[in-house]
Amino acid sequence: MDRSAFAIEATGLKKNYGAVQVTRDVSFALPSGAAMGIIGPNGAGKTTLFNLLTGTVRADGGTVRLVGQYITAAGARARSALGIARSFQVPQPFGGLTVFENALVAATFGQNLSEAAARPFAMEALRSTGLLSKATKRAGELGLLDRKRLELTRAIATAPRLLLLDEIAGGLTDAECTELIDLILSIKASGVTIIWIEHVLHALLRVVDRVMVLDFGQKIAEGEPEAIMQSPEVSAIYLGLEPETAHV
Ligand SMILES: Nc1ncnc2c1ncn2[C@@H]1O[C@H](COP(=O)(O)OP(=O)(O)O)[C@@H](O)[C@H]1O
Ligand SMILES: [Mg+2]
Repeated sequence: MDRSAFAIEATGLKKNYGAVQVTRDVSFALPSGAAMGIIGPNGAGKTTLFNLLTGTVRADGGTVRLVGQYITAAGARARSALGIARSFQVPQPFGGLTVFENALVAATFGQNLSEAAARPFAMEALRSTGLLSKATKRAGELGLLDRKRLELTRAIATAPRLLLLDEIAGGLTDAECTELIDLILSIKASGVTIIWIEHVLHALLRVVDRVMVLDFGQKIAEGEPEAIMQSPEVSAIYLGLEPETAHV
């Protein structure tokens, strides 16, 4: 089959920290333009899986392919240039720089561009996330929703084909969460493939076409959101932990 139909394909990914197997034989393949949610308890290895996909952490085993091309041996910088972008669980803007400068740095380093060539990408990313009017503000002065918008801006400014979102919906009001969801949906509509780790399940389920469940470093379920949310595996993990999820 044509592997390039998959934006991202991982097979048998493994990561150990000392004696602890944090990622155990995780495999999945996501078609281009699709959106997959990842759920699972704290410590399940969700963020580590992102680190293995972005290349910030080297896998102890397994392979990663981006649109059919093996990138397992590529470092984080090379993977970014090939089109993998992420947002962090704890937003990591340069607080002393302006919003525009943050977008510019992302576009410059994420795509290996000169500053002049990066400018249009930074501007377009700010426009699409609604941050253009705050371009001259210091990033450190932004409120929570705008900090999340800036995370998305910095990711989009790298012109990604694959966007990894790590718990970006937490802490928002309902209205703010709706704005964030609409923004993520618009990124999806532009053709970017998305993998989204999220505990705010009602937000996640508005966006994703499939869900993967991780527990103790292992993939324990994957499939259509409705079926996964009703599966015994998910009930066992979430029962009593997050009252909000009991209704999903
Ligand atoms: N750099 C590291 N060194 C040692 N242990 C780590 C490191 N990063 C993560 N871990 C451990 O790996 C497990 C999975 O962590 P993480 O991937 O952050 O989980 P999640 O994002 O699902 O909450 C946890 O037990 C965590 O303590
Ligand atoms: Mg995490």
